[in-house]
Amino acid sequence: MSQRNDASGAPSTPQLIWDFPTRIFHWLLVVCVLGAWLTAESERSRMLHLALGYSAGVLVAWRLIWGFMGSRYARFSNFVRSPVAAVSYLRGYLPAVRAAGHTQTHYAGHNPAGGWAVLALLSAVALVVTTGWLSYQDDSSELWGALHELVGNGIIVLVGVHVAAVIATGVLHRENLVRAMLSGYKRARSGEGIPGAYTLMGLVLAAGMAAFAWLVYSGAFPSLTA
Ligand code: HEM
Ligand code: HEM
Repeated sequence: MSQRNDASGAPSTPQLIWDFPTRIFHWLLVVCVLGAWLTAESERSRMLHLALGYSAGVLVAWRLIWGFMGSRYARFSNFVRSPVAAVSYLRGYLPAVRAAGHTQTHYAGHNPAGGWAVLALLSAVALVVTTGWLSYQDDSSELWGALHELVGNGIIVLVGVHVAAVIATGVLHRENLVRAMLSGYKRARSGEGIPGAYTLMGLVLAAGMAAFAWLVYSGAFPSLTA
């Protein structure tokens, strides 16, 4: 495997950082959130909107549990850091700060700013699902519908910032972070990788989500879709 030096000069090689369930979670969330957004307008795709939307909610609930029980870099304790650390990391994107010799630390897992982005994305999805459910109740106020639409469109803006940040960080650190979210491998110092991928848990998550989405879509939970 190729060995390079990270920003602090320490040697780093590709190691397993993202466990399989976290990767499955991420790409299923992308499908559900973008799918729900694309199917939001038309009455004909209502069941698809609901199936994808509720699935996004279940994925976030699963991720909250995995944030306590998952592997090293999936845990909140690994990436939720102080706002001061996040701002200091963000300053490292500024050309003037970089020109003054300040280099961003390379993190094997989420960086301090990325950690807050993860919390923002998870909260936004939880909020859009909750307001969607509230707007779907018989005696619902129109306000919930308006709020749901606002948050639903707001998420797309947030995702745009997320993808831009992923690309910018990847360019600055000369690392393909999107490929890392697919393969699980990122540059890290020796001993920083996780010992196993939790493949079985990932397969259970994928199969469980496919079954759940299909059941909602086919009307098996009338309390959610009737
Ligand atoms: C609806 C769209 C999206 C949502 C809701 C979303 C949400 C998230 C979340 C919650 C995480 C944290 C993963 C975890 O620890 O569980 C994450 C990380 C990540 N996402 Fe997304 N994402 C979206 C789209 C994308 C797209 C389109 C890309 C690729 C271009 C992407 C690339 C990444 C990467 C590379 C990471 C890891 C960042 C790092 O290295 O710290 N995401 N995303
Ligand atoms: C990731 C999840 C979701 C996203 C991104 C999303 C997004 C949206 C957006 C943008 C609209 C406005 C469409 C328009 O322009 O008229 C909408 C409408 C709607 N969504 Fe969702 N949605 C999600 C999940 C849900 C869920 C879980 C439900 C549960 C019942 C739901 C129920 C509705 C309903 C009933 C409407 C029509 C609201 C109204 O006009 O009063 N959505 N959604």
